[in-house]
Amino acid sequence: MITVPKGTKDTLPKDSYKWQYIENTARKTAALFDAKEIRTPTFEHTEVFVRGVGETTDVVNKEMYTFLDKGGRSITLKPEGTAGTIRAFVESGLYASALPVKLYYITDCFRYERPQAGRLRQFRQFGVEFLGSDSCGIDAEVILLAKSFLDGLGVKNLKLHINSIGCKDCRKKYQQALRDFLAEKKDKLCDKCKERYDTNPLRILDCKDEDCKKLLKGAPVILDYICDDCKAHFDGVKELLRAAGVEFTVDTGIVRGLDYYTKTVFEFVSDNIGAQGTVCGGGRYDGLVSEFGGGDIPGVGFAVGIERLLLLLENDGVEIPEPERLTVYVAPIGEAGREKAFKIVSELRKSGIAADTDYMERGIKAQFKYADKINAKFVGVLGDSEAERGVIKLKDMSSGEEKDVPISAILNELKKL
Ligand code: HAM
Repeated sequence: MITVPKGTKDTLPKDSYKWQYIENTARKTAALFDAKEIRTPTFEHTEVFVRGVGETTDVVNKEMYTFLDKGGRSITLKPEGTAGTIRAFVESGLYASALPVKLYYITDCFRYERPQAGRLRQFRQFGVEFLGSDSCGIDAEVILLAKSFLDGLGVKNLKLHINSIGCKDCRKKYQQALRDFLAEKKDKLCDKCKERYDTNPLRILDCKDEDCKKLLKGAPVILDYICDDCKAHFDGVKELLRAAGVEFTVDTGIVRGLDYYTKTVFEFVSDNIGAQGTVCGGGRYDGLVSEFGGGDIPGVGFAVGIERLLLLLENDGVEIPEPERLTVYVAPIGEAGREKAFKIVSELRKSGIAADTDYMERGIKAQFKYADKINAKFVGVLGDSEAERGVIKLKDMSSGEEKDVPISAILNELKKL
């Protein structure tokens, strides 16, 4: 038997309605904030992510699905949604339209990571990118969008953590402080972090190596190094969140794993789904659009991992509404009934009523069993006696009530119910 590749999953009908529900909720929430959908290709020129996400990040260094296409171009499956969105924003000239431009996407992403609960090699993100405003108000709005989406689904065990990692200038100062702090311990860092020490010391804060983590105890925190402007911006975000009644914790440990962030960064975290507890991550990225040649346009956004969200909903015991049941299963007896049934279900479907009939040549008892299994609301029996009288015997599968309905009146009868 051929199986799915490691780190990927099939979504079967017993679960696909949950995805549809989550994605519909995402679309409705995005619409409440007037965000419009953007769809970008599943693959991009590798350069988009190297430039967008950053050469020294794990995502670019270790986790990308990169290959040469038949034309010899380096292509990468998108590991996240932001870089491609910004590429499209610049390429299509959207930056010249009325700002802010509010975008959202629901997309598959690909990262070559070690699979575990909540960590896959193909996963799905709902993300938003709001472009054009550097106001702290829009940071708060983006956080509120994430929160109203998560609240709308009934998620309970999630905490909001926020931090500011300042602008480029603050970061330079902080990087130096971090290097000074680690200078004497540099030889004890893992090989990767020895490199990071020179190229991008902030990434050391993300290292999973236990020794590196210990060496970082007592390290300076970036919040102590941010400039007055960045501090005022962060204060503004906190104030607006408080005013909106949103609870949060300032967590100086959040630096995020992607290089484009500036100022506000945030995560919604759960301790109810194991090691991969970050369900949503995001923040501001004021230099990214200009990195793609689109001018000095600030941006802020987030992405929620839908697989992690589903894990959380399951562990929180949140029920996702089941899809609409089949309205009527028309059960024919004999060949003549079969043809009539085919016509009736075709007519019903044309009028928007979900209907089905037998194609397995089952006897009437087996058809009732099947209708019960697929959870049909009604079964309409079409036997010889019904055909003679021009009726269909309609049985309500919940109450067991039966009545004869003229075939010409079946549509109106079902519409009433
Ligand atoms: P990220 O933190 O790398 O940020 O990913 C966002 C979310 O995607 C995570 O919180 C997690 O729920 C989910 N996720 C990430 N990797 C995996 C994986 N291997 N398996 C399952 N789920 C995963 C970004 O991607 C940024 N582009 C977010 C953003 C948008 N920032 C600003 N705008």
